[in-house]
Amino acid sequence: MPTTLTLPSDRTTFALGHWLGQHLSVGTVLLLEGDLGSGKTTLTKGLGAGLGITEAIDSPTFTLINEYREGRLPLYHVDLYRLTTTDTSSLFLESYWEGIEYAPGIMAIEWAERLQFLPPEPLKIGLTYRQPTGRQVSLIPSTALQTSLLEALTSDAILAHEV
Ligand SMILES: Nc1ncnc2c1ncn2[C@@H]1O[C@H](COP(=O)(O)OP(=O)(O)OP(=O)(O)O)[C@@H](O)[C@H]1O
Ligand SMILES: [Mg+2]
Repeated sequence: MPTTLTLPSDRTTFALGHWLGQHLSVGTVLLLEGDLGSGKTTLTKGLGAGLGITEAIDSPTFTLINEYREGRLPLYHVDLYRLTTTDTSSLFLESYWEGIEYAPGIMAIEWAERLQFLPPEPLKIGLTYRQPTGRQVSLIPSTALQTSLLEALTSDAILAHEV
């Protein structure tokens, strides 16, 4: 069952990311999907802040993958915008979610629609535009742990994370 919430402003998108950064379990892979400018990077910035990362998080457009290690868990931020599905298979992103080559952490993948190989237990996050402003977010869990976490995710819980 997806959890659907309204995000009236960019601050709320950030706050949702912040909440996730404080609550997600090690090894979680977020598949961020949504049109251009729908809020994927904003959510990831909040995620980083919630993990306790103080370094500025910017979209890894040219580097493809940015790694941040100062928070409670490492954050791996990927942006597949410039890639095709065929390109993404040569990035070996599974070496991040397998947790052997890289320290297990949280992974956030923008433009996850372009992945050729999916992680085994992703948390899918879809962002869509709402008229006249704001966004709607839908979170689809794939484990019992993610499902129970999302039960605690309410608009009020997110509001408490607005800064
Ligand atoms: N809930 C929201 N309501 C209104 N504006 C928002 C909301 N969330 C984010 N924004 C704004 O939307 C713009 C685009 O956000 P962002 O860069 O995070 O999108 P993106 O999905 O990462 O874009 P891209 O597809 O280019 O990677 C920013 O100006 C951001 O402040
Ligand atoms: Mg982005």
